Amino acid sequence: MTSPRTFKVQSFGCQMNVYDGERMGELLAAEGMRAAGDGEAADLVVLNTCHIREKATEKVYSEIGRLKRPDGSRPMVAVAGCVAQAEGAEIARRAKVDVVVGPQAYHNLPALVAKAASGTVALDTDMPAASKFGALPARRKVAPSAFLTVQEGCDKFCTYCVVPYTRGAEVSRPFSAIFDEAKALADAGARELTLLGQNVNAWADEGRGLHDLIEAIATIPAIARIRYTTSHPNDMTDGLIAVHRDVDKLMPYLHLPVQAGSDRVLKAMNRSHTASSYLRILEKVRAARPDIALSGDFIVGFPGETDAEFEETLKLVDEVRYAQAFSFKYSPRPGTPAADMAEQIAPAVADERLQRLQALLNAHQTAFNCASIGRRTEVLVERQGRKPGQMLGKSPWLQSVHFESAAKIGDIVEVELVSAGPNSLAGTELVRSAA
Ligand code: 5AD
Ligand code: SF4
Repeated sequence: MTSPRTFKVQSFGCQMNVYDGERMGELLAAEGMRAAGDGEAADLVVLNTCHIREKATEKVYSEIGRLKRPDGSRPMVAVAGCVAQAEGAEIARRAKVDVVVGPQAYHNLPALVAKAASGTVALDTDMPAASKFGALPARRKVAPSAFLTVQEGCDKFCTYCVVPYTRGAEVSRPFSAIFDEAKALADAGARELTLLGQNVNAWADEGRGLHDLIEAIATIPAIARIRYTTSHPNDMTDGLIAVHRDVDKLMPYLHLPVQAGSDRVLKAMNRSHTASSYLRILEKVRAARPDIALSGDFIVGFPGETDAEFEETLKLVDEVRYAQAFSFKYSPRPGTPAADMAEQIAPAVADERLQRLQALLNAHQTAFNCASIGRRTEVLVERQGRKPGQMLGKSPWLQSVHFESAAKIGDIVEVELVSAGPNSLAGTELVRSAA
């Protein structure tokens, strides 16, 4: 196999993977490779994979199959991300791949690609003590809404979850490294930063917590908006709740997964919070920032979940009224405690529960959007719409908004929200402030 000249990175799964995918692209570009254009066949395809549920994992193997070209040849294939970490050399046995690289080792991607070009399958799933971040090239050009990983890994060991195994222990990047990257992202065109971590609100460095980091980043003039995701209820400190009141640039949106409404199920999940302790946190957050939009994650059909326990999830959802949410059928993951629990739920039962839960969540999401009609608000313009003259962007509450405008990508535009659907709103432009 010859050395690749063009590459494509395809990311699946969470926003941390999107961030890692961008950084791998920058790394390959720094080696003199070029990103293949839309529709152009790349010499190297990096599949940046997700292992969180079985379906996501299976996708890797079907994607590898799809890379075969009509003449029978195929590009160099690198499997990165959490499937690479979890399955390691097994991937090379199951499919034709050239590189397998874990989420903590991808700074070595160019060396692995060079090794693969010389004809050896190259594998690196180490979790080195030294962070990969120092070995990555500087940020140059980014979209107006950019991700910034500040923390990785998880020590919580929820019994259904592979993250503590694939991403490893909780590690916070140092304050100064994050602050420097935030400034570099601002110089590279970012106006909104989303701070990322599997447990982002567990971020800590020398006595500083996430709220200190948010306050510091808010001092960067070009950064107009700050978000963070994803959080654990137990790390929702009073300091963090207070910045929702005190820092204007922190957007009124909180993704705080609860997973289930039954205390027995939460205990079996090893969540170490109850439904009522979760609701008390949300009360405090709403007191600090009354217009906050709430979002969450849910799992239905966890082993042993009864009909009555599932009803408790619906009850909690009714009480919170999420602006947006993600809900999943429980998927047994190899190596996790829940996978070995008795009383796995029949798929048909889990399907039915998921449908009921999603119908309720969708109704609340639509209601939240409809309640926004008439609001005057700022929208960060992220891209062009499908129709000529139409632009698309996000409201502070993370709603997609489309409107007619001559604004540029990266502008922040004042709009009035005039109509709403389940997934987006239409607005009319009021005044425009230049970027
Ligand atoms: N099955 C189904 N959903 C899961 N999640 C994590 N592990 C599993 C699993 N084994 C969901 C949780 C988590 C989100 C990222 O994915 O809701 O918050
Ligand atoms: Fe997984 Fe629980 Fe850690 Fe979230 S907190 S990453 S669900 S183990």
